[in-house]
Amino acid sequence: MSKRTFTMIKPDATGKSYTGAILDQILKAGFSIKAMKWIRLTEEQAGLFYDIHRERAFFQELVDFMISGPIVAAVLEKENAVADFRTLIGATNPAQAADGTIRKLYAASIGENAVHGSDSDENANIEADFFFSKLERF
Ligand code: CMP
Repeated sequence: MSKRTFTMIKPDATGKSYTGAILDQILKAGFSIKAMKWIRLTEEQAGLFYDIHRERAFFQELVDFMISGPIVAAVLEKENAVADFRTLIGATNPAQAADGTIRKLYAASIGENAVHGSDSDENANIEADFFFSKLERF
């Protein structure tokens, strides 16, 4: 089991100035930050990151949203990182997210859902590699 996961704070949350509160909640939950950057994705980059969803009806909506403003990308470390982070952020649809989770607190809809969290150790590695060189991780 890997100790690392990957996250993005999405444009809805950065635009509403929730970045600090979300990072605070992540740190208080015991995660440490191993890499982080504030970045605005191009359409091509957002499409590549979410390539697995390319055939889904919501794909273009997802890409348009993800390039609508800056994001914060980060690699996080903690025992059981992938599963524990998904518990911390709550269900993809904030309407179904548990009380106290990041999406319940800060997300408006399934499309604009404040944060991304990797769904497996394998994808955590792939997603971290997408954003960060080895020099940018500690
Ligand atoms: P994320 O965890 O970043 O992974 C894929 C994203 O696709 C997901 O969060 C949602 O933001 C988005 N998504 C999933 N289902 C839908 C949907 N039905 N409509 C719009 N966006 C969706």
